[in-house]
Amino acid sequence: MSDQEDVKAPGISRRKFLKISALTTSAPLVLGPTVLQVEGQEVHVYGPGKVPVTLNVNGRRLSANLEPRVTLLDALREKFEVTGPKRVCDRGLCGACTVMMDNKAVYACSVLAIDAQGKPIVTTEGLAPEGKLHPVSAAFVDNDAQQCGFCTPGFVMATKAFLDRHPHATQEEIHRGLGGNFCRCGTYAGIRGAVAQLSGGGQQKGGA
Ligand code: FES
Ligand code: FES
Repeated sequence: MSDQEDVKAPGISRRKFLKISALTTSAPLVLGPTVLQVEGQEVHVYGPGKVPVTLNVNGRRLSANLEPRVTLLDALREKFEVTGPKRVCDRGLCGACTVMMDNKAVYACSVLAIDAQGKPIVTTEGLAPEGKLHPVSAAFVDNDAQQCGFCTPGFVMATKAFLDRHPHATQEEIHRGLGGNFCRCGTYAGIRGAVAQLSGGGQQKGGA
């Protein structure tokens, strides 16, 4: 028996098998969703293969084919080279990856990129489009609010999101508002000073 014909399956030679394998591996890996009917409603199921994903990051449309399991943080850093958001814990504990999505602070490591579609995303890069420091970043510099700086982009984005909602926050509100971000270098006094500077002194309500 020749080398091409030693496959046991009826009706398929080794040569045919190799051709089929080659065709399979060169077939497009990007698939649309499977549509299931669940209790009379259409449910779109994506993956596990790659699907087209388009994000709006700092006013730019960024597209890639990604597996649905890819997080926003991985998409930003690994696919789109937006490296302001940092990876530290990668599990929603430290805040180093904080970005603004739909004007709210979110942990990019805890959001799927596919779910972030259609929502404007802002990272620290988006705060300084022309290379000028944003007032929040400038306040961090003024107050010496960083040492190694690894937590700083996350803190800056968390501060921006917080002050957009609480422009005249009290010290207590600042403390609680930034409670989801951690600094291993312990620059909390500087960070609180920066936020207080931006919020008009962080005075206690009632004029204290
Ligand atoms: S890296 Fe996302 S919360 Fe720590
Ligand atoms: S400045 Fe180093 S972790 Fe915050």
